[in-house]
Amino acid sequence: MASLVVEGLSFRWPNGRSALDHCSFHIPGPGLWMLVGGNGSGKSTLLRMIAGLLDAREGRIERPLKPALVFQNPDHQLLLPSCGSDIELSLPPDLPRAARLAAVEQALALVGLAGFRQRPLHSLSGGQKQRLAIAGALASQARLLLLDEPTALLDETSQADVLQLIRTLCDEPQQPLTALWITHRLDELAWCNGAALVSRGRVGRWQNGQALRAQLCPLPAGRAAG
Ligand SMILES: Nc1ncnc2c1ncn2[C@@H]1O[C@H](COP(=O)(O)OP(=O)(O)O)[C@@H](O)[C@H]1O
Ligand SMILES: [Mg+2]
Repeated sequence: MASLVVEGLSFRWPNGRSALDHCSFHIPGPGLWMLVGGNGSGKSTLLRMIAGLLDAREGRIERPLKPALVFQNPDHQLLLPSCGSDIELSLPPDLPRAARLAAVEQALALVGLAGFRQRPLHSLSGGQKQRLAIAGALASQARLLLLDEPTALLDETSQADVLQLIRTLCDEPQQPLTALWITHRLDELAWCNGAALVSRGRVGRWQNGQALRAQLCPLPAGRAAG
């Protein structure tokens, strides 16, 4: 069964600007799927629509998995002062205390932050914050992660940590995750199961990540086709 189906999706902002134009694509199954495209090509709008934050004007989204968004800047996503309290926000409110603690510890361990429950957020590196945001998404039982340039603000080491984490979660044998990942950092295409170009509000066909990278690399830095 497909992890996501988008059919004929169109969206126009209130100011009349078209962001998506009869966009159709599907994610065939679990794995790490990447989208690249120029500024304003509609990538962030698409992720927000898949997350259910914006209503389609035309078209439909078939979404069998629970989605969760992970933004570029984790400081816009993390709300409470400690790692544990932030993850607790993602848990069902009626969970008893002991189960809450266990769920928090489990989510932290999944992202390589075991023992961080009482650590203040401000003491975390950018990469650790991004992994904590992912822990929150996992704690909410999301199985479709929507990541909007999650490594844009990270150094190379943290970038690799976050990529490796998502790769591992997508390769998990029992319950593999589906991740839809927007990037401007073309080196990341080496990590994906498939990559597609977004242009003028439409998603192109899935391609091998390295092949798409080779196709885009001749462009001047920072100017992916759009
Ligand atoms: N909040 C908004 N209000 C009006 N127009 C917007 C808003 N956000 C994005 N747009 C417009 O929608 C189009 C797609 O933007 P966006 O989805 O952010 O593209 P990308 O993420 O690929 O850079 C652009 O033309 C952009 O200017
Ligand atoms: Mg964007």
